[in-house]
Amino acid sequence: MVEAAQVLGLGPDELREVLAAATLAPSVHNTQPWRFRLADDRIELHADPARRLPATDPEDRELRLACGAALFNLRLALRARLIRPLVTLLPGSDAPGALAVVRRGGRQDLDEEARGLIGAVPARRSNRMPFRNVPVPAAHAHALVRAAERERTWLHVVADREERARLQRMVGDAHRVQAEDPAVRSELAAWTGVRAGDGVPPASAGIRPAPQDEWALRDFDARERTPGKDYESDPLMVVLCSFHDGPQAELQAGQALQRVLLTATTFGLSASFLSQPVEVRSVRERLRRSLGGSLEPQAVLRIGFGSPVPPTPRREVEALVLEQGLSSRC
Ligand SMILES: Cc1cc2nc3c(=O)[nH]c(=O)nc-3n(C[C@H](O)[C@H](O)[C@H](O)COP(=O)(O)O)c2cc1C
Repeated sequence: MVEAAQVLGLGPDELREVLAAATLAPSVHNTQPWRFRLADDRIELHADPARRLPATDPEDRELRLACGAALFNLRLALRARLIRPLVTLLPGSDAPGALAVVRRGGRQDLDEEARGLIGAVPARRSNRMPFRNVPVPAAHAHALVRAAERERTWLHVVADREERARLQRMVGDAHRVQAEDPAVRSELAAWTGVRAGDGVPPASAGIRPAPQDEWALRDFDARERTPGKDYESDPLMVVLCSFHDGPQAELQAGQALQRVLLTATTFGLSASFLSQPVEVRSVRERLRRSLGGSLEPQAVLRIGFGSPVPPTPRREVEALVLEQGLSSRC
């Protein structure tokens, strides 16, 4: 039980809102693999080992990406309250087991960009439906590249036809490897459908795969597509890369991922993930080599102009706080 009267000087409702904003981040299969430990002077972000996906994400790389994305939302939620967040990644003995610690760094006014990103947090969602056949303007693509740079990562835009075809093959190959792996299949099945506060519900599943699809999207038991309603022919395809390998780089990449997704949301753009080629180790190595060998591919995204889709569920904040109930403070 933490005896803190206040956390970072936030009132109970503010604290609840800040944590709830963090949980709006994306996570593989909507596992929401994060937890928080609270003290007067800090919010600690921890992984939730019960929400690991040992077959799909054996090294917890994507778990850390998701936690990094939650951390970015947490930073923004504090910014919204004019608090400058001071973040330490992998703080070690300062906060044993934590992926990150966030402290209060004084007052910081909001600029227009931060305002836009804050507004995008509840609006962002993964959109697995076909997008409109409208190209993403180059200025938007540049802004997404800059968003990744701001978080010290690299967003590679897959522009040329040959490279697209190569990436398509890698997605297809990795998709087949996973489709033949019973452990990966059973994780997907376990998190697909209506669950209490997590997982991917039918309304978010997109449309059922068809032979004419150029990109193999993950199948969350999606509904039959209306005849003729196919995927767009030319989505913007990007690969988010870190400059290093390992947990710290993955937490950094998770923050960048969320900054890219939220920036896209501010332009009215939708995104969905095609993670198979970064999840299957041999294909990830092929992708790494195709990017020149010095960047670590972390996430593959398809971006375009989509129609609105419903939100996925989230767990209650109370269930995410380590050791003490939030009820006394929220
Ligand atoms: C690292 C990472 C990888 C993901 N990979 C996939 C994927 O391969 N296919 C997919 O359809 N969704 C993928 N997702 C999206 C999640 O399923 C989605 O974030 C989750 O269901 C919550 O929904 P939301 O993004 O709409 O909030 C991924 C998300 C993250 C963070």
